[in-house]
Amino acid sequence: MKVSRSDFPEDFRFGVATSSYQIEGHAFGGAGRTQWDDFALTPGNVMRGENGATACDHYHRIDADLDLIRDLNADVYRFSTSWARVLPEGTGTPNAEGLDFYDRLVDGLLERGLKPAATLYHWELPVALLDRGGWRNGDMADWFADYTQVIMGRIGDRVWSAAPINEPWCVGWLSHFMGLHAPGVRDIRATARAMHHVLLAHGRSIQAMRSLGMSNLGAVCNFEWAEPIDRTEAAAKAAARYDAIYNRFFCGGLFKGEYPAEALEGLEPHLPQGWQDDFPTIREPVDWFGVNYYTRKLLAPTDGPWPSYAEHAGELPKTTMGWEVYPEGLYNILKRTHEEYTKGLPIFVTENGMSASDTLAADGSVPDPHRIDYIERHMTRVRDLIAEGVPVAGYYVWSLMDNFEWSLGYEKRFGLVHVDFDTLERTPKASYLALKEAFARA
Ligand code: NOJ
Repeated sequence: MKVSRSDFPEDFRFGVATSSYQIEGHAFGGAGRTQWDDFALTPGNVMRGENGATACDHYHRIDADLDLIRDLNADVYRFSTSWARVLPEGTGTPNAEGLDFYDRLVDGLLERGLKPAATLYHWELPVALLDRGGWRNGDMADWFADYTQVIMGRIGDRVWSAAPINEPWCVGWLSHFMGLHAPGVRDIRATARAMHHVLLAHGRSIQAMRSLGMSNLGAVCNFEWAEPIDRTEAAAKAAARYDAIYNRFFCGGLFKGEYPAEALEGLEPHLPQGWQDDFPTIREPVDWFGVNYYTRKLLAPTDGPWPSYAEHAGELPKTTMGWEVYPEGLYNILKRTHEEYTKGLPIFVTENGMSASDTLAADGSVPDPHRIDYIERHMTRVRDLIAEGVPVAGYYVWSLMDNFEWSLGYEKRFGLVHVDFDTLERTPKASYLALKEAFARA
């Protein structure tokens, strides 16, 4: 690797990220049913009908997996706690075994000198709450605040940082407008409500964690750098609409207490009554902001219904997700986020990485030069930004190991560690070995 720890400030944090449903194995330990268990049962929703029942069996292999993170010379492990594991019915009686598991996880990290960075919701909604409307229902904010109290009442004294919700765009738009993630709804009214309620739940959760005396609290959003397909004004407008829905809606709510006009054009009639009154809660101050970044998107106008844009594949080299490799987009997003929204708050790259068809070679190695190149190029742009005075404070790779890539199942491999999904054997890839050197402390 051409970049390493010594190119970054002393207190810069390197890490790896995962999420509960994608790695733990949800069929164990008294976890309740989630919307992803059910979503996978309808043919066509998830490739090959795969689900997270076993996943990487991290639930039973936690010690060996935490050793892998320590041996990578990482500082931080970004993981998530599963709402359905902690509260199988979504509300009410906690699952003692689930709480014990997260307790062990946090202690296991601390014993290894790693900083626990918790996310409270990475999409495993308990089905009991889906029956009550899920994210369409404004009561979700109360239920989420209660869940926050339960899980952080147990581990909040030892986590280094916490963020309530991973990628609000996925919870709102991807799951309720595009229908590509659970619960697979395609309905604009549900979308507007989910997009708003997820931010309200974020604010309520931050308040609950503050009341527990916790600090170092943040928000994590995903971004794609949106560019018009050509120089026409119509394409520029299409890109601006995409940018508003994907990127600016959530930052606007969190940091300005407003939603962008280009998003309100379509969503305003469907927002819940009195939505403006929720901004004081949504804007509850945070201590840092997390940016998940993978790619850019090229947009063209269409004459179909709002939002009247079509996504186009660009010509840059792509990952097996079909995503263009575009480190400049990370640079642009971080710079803009700092200048227009977060204004000096520390920003962490809470996810960055790529999927590939990585295979185990006969000599037992897993060569993934493409991933080393991807990470190196993105890390280099982060380093450049820091030199320009943008307060980027950490960089976490998605993901520690190959895992359940939601609707695309197990075939899209994002890991630094290869997982054989028949034997569940872990094998560090070449990228893991390269990063282990790059993250080494002097
Ligand atoms: C974003 C999500 O947080 C994570 O769950 C997913 O696996 C990666 N991006 C890759 O798509």
